[in-house]
Amino acid sequence: MDINFTDKVIVVTGGASGMGAAHARAFVEKGGRVVLGDVNDELGKTLSDELGENARFHHLDVSDEDDWASFMEYTESEFGPISVLINNAGIGAGGLLESMTLESWRRVLTINLDGTFLGIRAAIGSMKKAGGGSIVNISSFAGLIGTPFSANYTASKFAVRGLTKTAAMELAPYGIRVNSVHPGYIRTPMIKDTADDVVIGKIALNRMAEPEEVSNTVLFLASDAASYTTGSEFAVDGGWSAGSPVSIGETHRQFEDRS
Ligand SMILES: NC(=O)c1ccc[n+]([C@@H]2O[C@H](COP(=O)([O-])OP(=O)(O)OC[C@H]3O[C@@H](n4cnc5c(N)ncnc54)[C@H](O)[C@@H]3O)[C@@H](O)[C@H]2O)c1
Repeated sequence: MDINFTDKVIVVTGGASGMGAAHARAFVEKGGRVVLGDVNDELGKTLSDELGENARFHHLDVSDEDDWASFMEYTESEFGPISVLINNAGIGAGGLLESMTLESWRRVLTINLDGTFLGIRAAIGSMKKAGGGSIVNISSFAGLIGTPFSANYTASKFAVRGLTKTAAMELAPYGIRVNSVHPGYIRTPMIKDTADDVVIGKIALNRMAEPEEVSNTVLFLASDAASYTTGSEFAVDGGWSAGSPVSIGETHRQFEDRS
């Protein structure tokens, strides 16, 4: 299967760091022309310079309607209409539901959910000009299963999953596919110094993942290789959402002891 983005224009939001940066790098390696949108101008510019002539950076706060208008104008003037949008920008936040402030609730919903809605809406016109396209919304394993101590984040990521399905149905007539990706624990600045052991014994693959392991799924969905795939959800979580968080290693040992 040859995945190639030659002559395709790709937008990656939150592209300055973490998974977004890994996706951007992978798209450029596969011949794509990438525009990174992020609130972190310094990191975004540094990465775009490093990626060379097929990359650009433009300031984008995904929760700001006006930013989206100027971002799309810039992107089309530099590279032309877009074929791929990766709605990756997001913030993590959590805490006890009982003491969660309305401000914290709204901040997470505004960036993670409103940002995804505004991105989809901004991309439609451009993708129509390109003759179709693919939108990949980055949700989370927390968009597939309930996760305690993160009501705001979990609600935002479940909503992104629902929005994906509606968008897929509505945009199919324009040749635009829309899917969601649900990462588990991925080693990025978002999870900071979370220790590896937080997942050990809880998920089938028993480790965290590197951002590039998510890029592989994102690039597949963005590519023509996924031509019959829309409205679907793809977990890249080492099996986290596949089952209950029992200690898999411990249970294995118990069965082995019995046999
Ligand atoms: N790291 C994980 O374990 C994990 C797990 C599941 C889902 N996710 C999701 O993956 C996506 C990427 O996360 P990451 O781990 O790479 O995080 P990260 O913090 O490394 O990167 C997020 C990027 O988004 C940017 N950003 C934040 N607010 C923004 C805004 N309003 N507008 C534009 N850009 C903004 C940040 O500047 C940063 O560059 C997020 O949507 C996150 O919720 C992450």
